[in-house]
Amino acid sequence: MGYAISISCLTESSGLMAILSVQNVIKEFRQGLVAMRVLKGITHSFDTGISYSITGVSGSGKSTLMHLLAGIDLPTSGAVLYNGVNVQKLSITEKKHFLNKTVGLVFQDPYLIKELSVVENVMLKALIAHEPYGPAHKHALELLAATGLSDKADHHPLSLSGGQQQRIAVLRALFNRPQFLLADEPTGNLDSENARLVIDLLIKEKELGMGLIVSSHDSRVAQRMDVQLRLADGILQ
Ligand SMILES: Nc1ncnc2c1ncn2[C@@H]1O[C@H](COP(=O)(O)OP(=O)(O)OP(=O)(O)O)[C@@H](O)[C@H]1O
Ligand SMILES: [Mg+2]
Repeated sequence: MGYAISISCLTESSGLMAILSVQNVIKEFRQGLVAMRVLKGITHSFDTGISYSITGVSGSGKSTLMHLLAGIDLPTSGAVLYNGVNVQKLSITEKKHFLNKTVGLVFQDPYLIKELSVVENVMLKALIAHEPYGPAHKHALELLAATGLSDKADHHPLSLSGGQQQRIAVLRALFNRPQFLLADEPTGNLDSENARLVIDLLIKEKELGMGLIVSSHDSRVAQRMDVQLRLADGILQ
């Protein structure tokens, strides 16, 4: 499949329903002999085309849950399922596809790579996968153009403002048109105008069919999502 011409064609899943779910998920962290149970048996399904907010006090386990859903950490027990299939049971090739194409993850901090230009940060997944440079570069430039950041393409990422860096991190996560975008406090460090721009970008993709899960302390962000969830005492309600 060639790269889409505009950001409005981003979502691989357009028209295709998919479900990402957690089933009886328990997550413990061990510190010496002591196990701290952060998630105490969570069951929930997330659909494409719907946006979800996850709020909860600091330390309630929001990042932990996001990392499990993104497949970059494992539950102590229970399962993360993609269309009913346990992500832990995927073959290496399927897991690669899951990490690279099915989910996109935005961390609270942008974590842009300072050795790469802005446009190369956007196309990072293609660089890692050794995809042909030309089409990936073209697609990354289109994403930058669609978000008014074309003039920054060849800049050093750390020369950008915090809000611009976070929008680049969002574009990087959207690059492969994921079916689910997981954004962990994507606006935590931003002023209200930059926060609005980041959430606008995410909601635009959700409206085209992507599933969107956003953890946030900010009730203004949470209220813009279709479904509001709260993580408290290790349980998602
Ligand atoms: N790798 C780890 N090792 C040990 N404990 C951890 C680890 N990751 C998270 N924790 C603990 O799990 C709990 C939940 O952490 P988590 O980062 O998921 O919370 P959070 O809701 O995202 O908090 P915040 O709003 O501050 O980002 C915390 O008590 C934290 O110290
Ligand atoms: Mg967190």
